[in-house]
Amino acid sequence: MDGKIVIETKELTKNYDGVTVVDRLNLHIREKEIFGLLGPNGAGKTTTILMLLGLTEPASGSAWVFGYSPTREPLKVKRLAGYLPENVGFYNNLTARENLMFIAELNNISRAEANRRIGELLEIVGIGEVANLTVGKFSRGMKQRLGIADALIKNPKVAFLDEPTAGLDPEGINQTLDLIANLPQMGTTVVLSSHQLYQVQRVCHSIGILSKGKTVIEGSLDQLGREALAGGNYRIEVETAQPNPQLIDIVNKLPGVRKVEAEGNLLLINADSDLRAEIAKAVVQSNTPLIQMKIQEFSLDDIYMKYFKED
Ligand SMILES: Nc1ncnc2c1ncn2[C@@H]1O[C@H](COP(=O)(O)OP(=O)(O)O)[C@@H](O)[C@H]1O
Ligand SMILES: [Mg+2]
Repeated sequence: MDGKIVIETKELTKNYDGVTVVDRLNLHIREKEIFGLLGPNGAGKTTTILMLLGLTEPASGSAWVFGYSPTREPLKVKRLAGYLPENVGFYNNLTARENLMFIAELNNISRAEANRRIGELLEIVGIGEVANLTVGKFSRGMKQRLGIADALIKNPKVAFLDEPTAGLDPEGINQTLDLIANLPQMGTTVVLSSHQLYQVQRVCHSIGILSKGKTVIEGSLDQLGREALAGGNYRIEVETAQPNPQLIDIVNKLPGVRKVEAEGNLLLINADSDLRAEIAKAVVQSNTPLIQMKIQEFSLDDIYMKYFKED
């Protein structure tokens, strides 16, 4: 993901009753990516989203959403942002279609355009068949889908989805995640919050992990795995037929190799980059039969566990 940064916070801070709940937050979200705000309950995810939407004022710091300040230009931000709140509410006595029409009117979307868009969105979120059923009869999952349709009605540049899979059964979670995964293709940047690691891992391109209002870590999933656990290193494991002290010496001298440890027939190598080709060549040149070589990839699980052991 190398789109331009379209949402940014600088030292964004919020206090409630003298307690700092979002603490000098710096986030960088790129165009048409799915960005996951990940953190346990109370980490400050909802408060951050509310500040980005201009729905609550920061104590200090700044935020930019597609070039606008949510504090100074809240209406401009609201015009380009869709929002699925944590607790989505609809009129139970109106149908799904009528609820969306009501929201379209609030957004000054013409009736013709709204009709077209509502039909399309109800299909996209998979509730086209129940479009004319009153929402009071909807399950939690159906309401959540309607909530996503609501967030998308104005064809937003960015959709803020606060815990979009909360309260859904596994099938509902999968379908909702599939739906979210498709949003960037429609031109929408997505910011979603979640305390569910694997869900974020499945659909997000980049994440920011929040803990007690602070960003613990931010970046692309790929980049984070390496940085968080290996200090920017690649860890390459080489298994040979027998130990060879001379080989250790050769590998140690390869440019980019930081450290080599030997454990019997295993060489554990820390390097600045993926040096598998160079290492394989060195092994062959030292006349040591190579059995296998692995490069360690760190999962987000490992990172999350590192910061949220108490969870
Ligand atoms: N309106 C509010 N008044 C007082 N405290 C609040 C308010 N909203 C949130 N908080 C507190 O701020 C902290 C962060 O909450 P929140 O942003 O909802 O976290 P998350 O969405 O990550 O669960 C929590 O300790 C919460 O109790
Ligand atoms: Mg929340």
